[in-house]
Amino acid sequence: MDLKKLLDSLTLEEKIGQLTMIAPHFFLDSSKTWIAGPLAELGISEDEVFLAGSVLGIGNAEEMIEVQKRYLEKSRHKIPLIFMADIIHGYETIFPVPLALASSFNDEILFQAARVSAKEAKASGIHATFSPMVDLVRDPRWGRVVESYGEDPYMLYRFANVQVKAYQGRSIKHEGFLASCVKHFAAYGLAEGGKDYNTVDLSRLNLHQYYLKGYKGAIDAKAKLVMTSFNIFEGIPATTNQYLLKEVLRKKWKFKGTIISDYASLKETISHGTEESEYSAAVSGVKAGLNIEMATALYMKNLKDAVKNGDVSIEEIDELVMSVLKLKEESGLFENPFIGANPEKEKRLIHSKAHIEKAYNAAVESMILLKNNHRVLPIRHYQKVALIGPYTNNPKINGPWSWHGDRHVNQTLYEAFKKSFRLVYSDDSFDSNIEKLKSSDVIVMAMGESQKESGEAHSKSNIKLDEQQIAYIKRIKALTGKPIVLVLFNGRPLDLSDVVNHVDAILEAYFPGTMGSKAIAHLLSGKQNPSGKLTMSFPRSVGQVPIYYNHLNTGRPYASGGEYVSHYLDLEEKPLFPFGYGLSYSNFKYENVQLSSDKMKLNETLTISVDITNDSYVQGKEVVQLYLRDHVAKVSRPVKELINFKKIDLAPNETKKVIFEITKKDLEYYDHNLNLRVDPGKFSLFIGPNSEELIEKEFILE
Ligand code: GLC
Repeated sequence: MDLKKLLDSLTLEEKIGQLTMIAPHFFLDSSKTWIAGPLAELGISEDEVFLAGSVLGIGNAEEMIEVQKRYLEKSRHKIPLIFMADIIHGYETIFPVPLALASSFNDEILFQAARVSAKEAKASGIHATFSPMVDLVRDPRWGRVVESYGEDPYMLYRFANVQVKAYQGRSIKHEGFLASCVKHFAAYGLAEGGKDYNTVDLSRLNLHQYYLKGYKGAIDAKAKLVMTSFNIFEGIPATTNQYLLKEVLRKKWKFKGTIISDYASLKETISHGTEESEYSAAVSGVKAGLNIEMATALYMKNLKDAVKNGDVSIEEIDELVMSVLKLKEESGLFENPFIGANPEKEKRLIHSKAHIEKAYNAAVESMILLKNNHRVLPIRHYQKVALIGPYTNNPKINGPWSWHGDRHVNQTLYEAFKKSFRLVYSDDSFDSNIEKLKSSDVIVMAMGESQKESGEAHSKSNIKLDEQQIAYIKRIKALTGKPIVLVLFNGRPLDLSDVVNHVDAILEAYFPGTMGSKAIAHLLSGKQNPSGKLTMSFPRSVGQVPIYYNHLNTGRPYASGGEYVSHYLDLEEKPLFPFGYGLSYSNFKYENVQLSSDKMKLNETLTISVDITNDSYVQGKEVVQLYLRDHVAKVSRPVKELINFKKIDLAPNETKKVIFEITKKDLEYYDHNLNLRVDPGKFSLFIGPNSEELIEKEFILE
């Protein structure tokens, strides 16, 4: 396809149309209410709808085919629509939410989740997914921590890289592959107070040192699109921010793909107070290099005049449009406008045995055993089990951004428990029969947040379980004295300080998706062995937020002791559960940590090894974590930073040697002039099962 020839054949209106994304219903619904309602709000005519170049979301393959058909019938230029949607953790087969998936610390789990998502979504006619979301998150009050991999920049980079490759494969036109759009660029997770859409303020140093790492992982994997975020950076909305979009993305990172706004984020620059009108916002979008405006029509309504007034050149418009045409060509749309959409295949793939199995494996590996006193778990087959709490019969465990996921497909915990345990009692009221509970050997309490307390626009100032649940847990423990296993469904780290000492075991399930209940039953029964680890610190109190493991030392670190050090008078220093923490039914011993040398030259590779023994009778998986500390640098560096991890599988009493290689790349950091550098001097390596239980080895970089 000669794209230049095609571009030159377009009218200015048609070019501008390619820069606009609207919902699919605009192509289907020509009802008067629609025209007087959403269409009027959008401010464009029915004819202009058929100039738009891309579609936000789609119901299924049949709907995509219908929309594309109607569009092409009316289109003079016959450039097919491209369909994009939020397939964040599954299309119909729903995987655990990203904060849970990351807790598997298993690249293959992340890879398979993206592969299944891509196969099912592509068969429904979707050509791009607004995933991965790699906003660095350190504040559990923010509703969207559920969509991120967590608080560690290295992990964000690594898993973004894995998932983009899984979505896109060798070509996004191939069956079962689609384009990846990394979001939200940039630093959206730093919203003040954890309040969604709130102000973001950080230095360029911290932006480059920590907050950009996840997006870079996606760009290095050749993500085709980048979505701008709702927030400002240095006072300018990301959607019109030339430093972010031109200096960083285009010039420094050489990104050649397509930049798309978030929902109405171009229009919201007016609300931010950096644009006086829709006209000026449209011009600023073009000047920043924004290729597609999502869900509003400022480009459509203003750019023709902007060209006429000389505020925007036709060359600038052409450059923006060319990127969209290239994306459509790469997607195979010019060869086949209905590429991917296949109703029969869609039905065959959705909830297929293979996909369900992958969702089950992901759920099993994503859950974190936070407490297991007196080996209450696993529950023995002969034990009489009671299951109570609001999630006993609640199938709504898919979590936010699971649009298509049909919760009716989900087993409830009760249904799963019936198949795994000697279930003697269950109820989901807050008024359980105490005598019946006393006749059980162990009580499982299924509690947590509703899905509606998590996700976009769902930030919370209080991150405890609700009062009723806290009181219920305390009451049941006090009245029965039985071992209590708390199973948590939630979309953020919670403040568990009120209940942690009233329960004997805690399994963190987050929102585990289609196979969550079965995975929980198998983990509690010992059919599966927990292996997940936290990727966000669990604070002791919301007053401790932000709290994250890779913090700076400060001039008066708590560890130095005494009164005049950095601490709270009324709270312990450490989080309740730290980054990287998670228990197993196995008992892993770390021995014989060895450095290949205690000196390293810049061009050399240093290795560190450790012998891990599964000192138990239970096969288990362990996540061996490697952290680094740069003791002296041009800027203050974290007391430790994750630089690698390996998840290993050990048979009972088996020992494996785990080896990590350290190169110059692992030691690099940005100085205050934003130069990437490494300085000679003392470094520490730490190896262990979480960010606190670590064995330290020092070396000198010469
Ligand atoms: C939403 C979200 C973004 C999503 C987009 C399209 O507002 O911020 O993550 O991809 O709109 O649904």
